[in-house]
Amino acid sequence: MTQEIWQSRPADLYGRRTHDRLFNALWGAITVFGGMAALSRWTPSRVAPVSRTIAAVITKREMVTSDVVALTLADPDGGLLPSWTPGGHIDVQLPSGRRRQYSLCGVPGRRTEYRIAVRRLDDGGGGSVEMHESYAEGDTLLFEGPRNAFYLGTGENEALFVIGGIGVTPMLPMLREAAQRGIDWRAVYAGRSRADMPLLDEVLAVDPDRVTVWADDEHGRFAGTEELLAGAGPQTAVYVCGPSAMLEAVRVTRDEHADAPLHYERFSPPPVVDGEPFEVELARSGRVLEIPADRSALDVMLDADPTTAYSCRQGFCGTCKVTVVSGDVDRRGRTAEGDEEMLVCVSRANGRRIVIDA
Ligand code: FES
Repeated sequence: MTQEIWQSRPADLYGRRTHDRLFNALWGAITVFGGMAALSRWTPSRVAPVSRTIAAVITKREMVTSDVVALTLADPDGGLLPSWTPGGHIDVQLPSGRRRQYSLCGVPGRRTEYRIAVRRLDDGGGGSVEMHESYAEGDTLLFEGPRNAFYLGTGENEALFVIGGIGVTPMLPMLREAAQRGIDWRAVYAGRSRADMPLLDEVLAVDPDRVTVWADDEHGRFAGTEELLAGAGPQTAVYVCGPSAMLEAVRVTRDEHADAPLHYERFSPPPVVDGEPFEVELARSGRVLEIPADRSALDVMLDADPTTAYSCRQGFCGTCKVTVVSGDVDRRGRTAEGDEEMLVCVSRANGRRIVIDA
């Protein structure tokens, strides 16, 4: 059982898969209580469909940490890019056909240029590596959007922003907006070391007196929820963006203040909850894939075919939607799945086998 939990859990607060005892205890709590927390606090996203492809030119490419590249984008003809709001993201169409979502981290609302930042994950799905290696200044980048499922609420008087590593990208413009709106805000930015924390100088520049920096190498451990949520009162709106473990820990801890707003955005897929093994039959080839209890159908399909389309891996963008030929789908997506559709990143089978048109 312990091994099963280990295999299904995400990496630690910053993407590591070390077996430290504190994290084991934390993950155990998440495994037990996470589903309940999701039921009580989940807010459906307001994601509008993305409908047109836009070409932008890369006007600046810079490494902001040793493994994070920031790209500045502009209209090739010097015009304005579509309007956007803090927390918004674009869907990048990579040369390989992959699609990946990246938050806009430039000056809020600025339409003469966008900026995105991408952490390279050599053991990821290949998208971040392609982002790092495929684009130079002067190249064209195709994207759809922007769209936004992670807004700064209109009624907030007091807000805490909990940031983990590359989770800073949607948060930086939100901090700037909070400052502009006169919200009583604070931020906790956690990372392995200051050198590993992208855009740290810009976060501090918003208002250094309101930002707490937690660098693991300065404390000898990663931040617990007592540090991440220090000073958050019962009515404080909490925004969190970072790795799954950080997000789940904050979410579980804030459940004691169920009336206070809690907003979060994941950068990695959530762990499978209450998964049962099943089979996916690919109708066109007749190939049958075994889906274990702790993995998504998409993960196994990617093992078989790395070009399988996906983007968010969280059931809201619709990129991975397939047509179901036969079988009963346990629908778990946040975007609509029709009677003969399945989001393979999150949905599962009620029976033993699903046959899909793939
Ligand atoms: S990849 Fe976005 S819904 Fe499945």
